[in-house]
Amino acid sequence: MYDDNPTLVGIKKEIIEEIQGQAFGDQGIETVPGTRMFYIESYGCQMNFSDSEIVASILSGYGYGATRNLEMADLVLINTCSIREKAEETVRKRLGQFNLLKNEKPHLLIGVLGCMAERLKTKFLEEEKLVDLVVGPDAYRDLPGLIATAEDGEKGINVFLSREETYADISPMRLDSNGVTGFISIMRGCDNMCSFCVVPFTRGRERSRDAFSIIAEANEMFERGYREVTLLGQNVDSYKWEKPDSGDVVNFAQLLVMVAKINPALRVRFSTSHPKDITDEVLYAMARHENICKYIHLPVQSGNSRILEMMNRTYDREWYMERIESIRRIIPDCAISSDIITGFCTETEEEHLDTLLMMEFVQYSMAYMFAYSERPGTLAARKYADDIDEEIKKRRLNEIIRLQNHLSLEHNKADIGKIFKVLIEGDSKRSADEWKGRNTQNKMVVFPKLSLELKPGDYVMVKVNKATSATLLGEIAQ
Ligand code: SAH
Ligand code: SF4
Ligand code: F3S
Repeated sequence: MYDDNPTLVGIKKEIIEEIQGQAFGDQGIETVPGTRMFYIESYGCQMNFSDSEIVASILSGYGYGATRNLEMADLVLINTCSIREKAEETVRKRLGQFNLLKNEKPHLLIGVLGCMAERLKTKFLEEEKLVDLVVGPDAYRDLPGLIATAEDGEKGINVFLSREETYADISPMRLDSNGVTGFISIMRGCDNMCSFCVVPFTRGRERSRDAFSIIAEANEMFERGYREVTLLGQNVDSYKWEKPDSGDVVNFAQLLVMVAKINPALRVRFSTSHPKDITDEVLYAMARHENICKYIHLPVQSGNSRILEMMNRTYDREWYMERIESIRRIIPDCAISSDIITGFCTETEEEHLDTLLMMEFVQYSMAYMFAYSERPGTLAARKYADDIDEEIKKRRLNEIIRLQNHLSLEHNKADIGKIFKVLIEGDSKRSADEWKGRNTQNKMVVFPKLSLELKPGDYVMVKVNKATSATLLGEIAQ
């Protein structure tokens, strides 16, 4: 086993949570004595966290209250990720701990949700005997029925993948929110077949959510004080929704503009863009609307065309560089970040070097970097041997991390002296005397509160005085 050592550059929520998991609970729910309680812990990408909020909403409709306290729970749910082997190992360890609780509390139900549930299906029940529920990402509406089955002493399992389900009508219960920034799922599944990736198998076919339900959700969030929404999908650029009866189609650029027009004080972000699909129409929409944030997460995966072909990414090095040049031309101040996989099957030293050169070319503001982890059933697992030595993977990963640390620092240092509009999210991690917030480029900015009457959700102009590779430090500009 190698260490799937994720980057420390610009710490990614997804990764921290892949390692630690995160419990939702308590907020916004009245706890009635005698009410059955659920505890939910989430791993993996932001879409999984978003799904946990849908699950919470479904369960509260079924009379369950949320708790952060594991000991108080009658139902313990773990929303899982399969993206790398390490992610699955973490979940198995956690399940072992949950099972100990069950020895003390026999009526406790334990459920596995999300991508691992979908990947392993009934195998989960064979391998983890104490699991009562196995529920795939498209079957959450069935949870009340499955819980009833489990309460009757049988196993509740539904891993049916749907071509239609988008949970469009379910208003997510925002359980672990700062009340300022939130996520909206705009689509589910993925129709790309990147050879390394398990997502098309765990999340099923791509489908886009009703545009009006997205606008309604964003509107409602704005009314409740939210000032930033991030539109989520595995490949947002292929968002496509047909209005019933009219045949009119809403594409991603149009959706972005519709959300941006809700209010100039509502910021719009999105993730993730795919290099083969991101259009100039999207870039022009970003350039035209101040409140569409100037930041694109555009995962390159590798800087070498042969490896990209083996990865089935359907673009090559030149195509990717052309997209970067279009971004620079249309949105000169746009920050760009990336995902990179190192040590993919047959990758040579020279090909690894191409990735380093690509990073230099783009000057990423931030990147998430991973050593290749073979996933059962994927195209790569079937076609290619996972033949790069773990030590070599690790060394190459360290090289890209070192370079990205340098690039992030340089990117941030270039901001010293500049003034940015920052949306305040809350107290900084370090001190209650400091605010933290982000600028349009998605950079975290920390600055002293002073005595001004500001609060989370306010915009403020901040002048940058200092920079680390992860944060800009500044002061309120007069
Ligand atoms: N839909 C997004 C990616 C979702 S998965 C996209 O296409 O960019 C998030 C990241 O995990 C991927 O971008 C990739 O860098 C990484 N990843 C996916 N499968 C992996 C694997 N088998 N081994 C290592 N990293 C992987
Ligand atoms: Fe996986 Fe590729 Fe789909 Fe991203 S676009 S989720 S990497 S198959
Ligand atoms: Fe993981 Fe599933 Fe997301 S595999 S990265 S939780 S779509």
